[in-house]
Amino acid sequence: MHKGKISILLLAIMIVTTAQLYQVAYGKYAVGAYNINNIEQTIGLFRGCVDSQAPFIIQLSKGARKYTDKRMLEAVIRTAEEMFPEAVFAVHLDHGDEETCYDCIDSGFYSSVMIDASHDPFDKNIEITKRVVDRAHAKGISVEAELGMLGGVEEDISVDEKHACLTNPDEAVEFMQRTGCDSLAAAIGTSHGAYKFKGQQSLHFEVIEGIRDKVAAAGMKPVPIVMHGSSSVPQSEVERINAAGGKLDPSARGVNEEEYLPAAKLGVTKVNIDTDGRLVWTRVHREFFRDKPTEFDFRPPGKIFMDEYAKFIAHKNGKLGSAGTLPEVRKAAGG
Ligand code: 13P
Repeated sequence: MHKGKISILLLAIMIVTTAQLYQVAYGKYAVGAYNINNIEQTIGLFRGCVDSQAPFIIQLSKGARKYTDKRMLEAVIRTAEEMFPEAVFAVHLDHGDEETCYDCIDSGFYSSVMIDASHDPFDKNIEITKRVVDRAHAKGISVEAELGMLGGVEEDISVDEKHACLTNPDEAVEFMQRTGCDSLAAAIGTSHGAYKFKGQQSLHFEVIEGIRDKVAAAGMKPVPIVMHGSSSVPQSEVERINAAGGKLDPSARGVNEEEYLPAAKLGVTKVNIDTDGRLVWTRVHREFFRDKPTEFDFRPPGKIFMDEYAKFIAHKNGKLGSAGTLPEVRKAAGG
């Protein structure tokens, strides 16, 4: 019993609200939001963030919650928290539908949820988002909502490029006012998955600036913008995977990592990264089994993956500007 009490106390200190992270980071740097699915990824994530002294957001998607079991992931996160008491993080539902949002809100485990009704018409998106906001705010949980449409494939959602559309800043203001959501996933030219761009393509900074300026002109408080589809799909990673037997499109490109920080200065406060982590996993395992074809123990490549994933996370946090900010964040969160 006593032990339980202590761990609840610890939990209250280490898991912060997403809103607290946004407050410290807004306009200065972006907080990395990393999707996790298993133990190895979780260990690598915590280690990489503690090594780089960065706060972070753990994202759980619907698919991740189903993969083993949502209770398993929660237990893994709670255990990682005990193993890495220095870590400061929030737990977020990525791309939720209404039912999954309510499940997470009622669970008491999540700091924030994302309701993604961006495929519905504007008014319907507002209606659904507002319902989720009301229920979440009653429990002190913040809500991310999406307006505009990203291209690409994200679990069961697939949007082809001709249907993808950038967020309209005027609509963004109306959307925020009518829903009361806490952050906005805006379509600024990125897409989910490994095949984002061919050749060089830049973020639509004018959309980020437009939202920031119109929100200010409407007398609202600044809106943290969330960038989905932020993986950079490093060419070196794709080449290594293909050299080890993979067949990824070698011309695939992602977001230029040097654009994370300029976007953060304009209000992008949460940067979602999933695909790049999957590429690390694929590269490690393909190379391992290519070089050791007689091996069948999954622990040796698992160990390499945890180390490589931690390095990858620390590198990303450096590019996002969140590395080294942990002391400031802990102070702001009262820890
Ligand atoms: P990537 O596919 O670019 O990693 O994007 C992930 C994401 O936006 C999760 O919501």
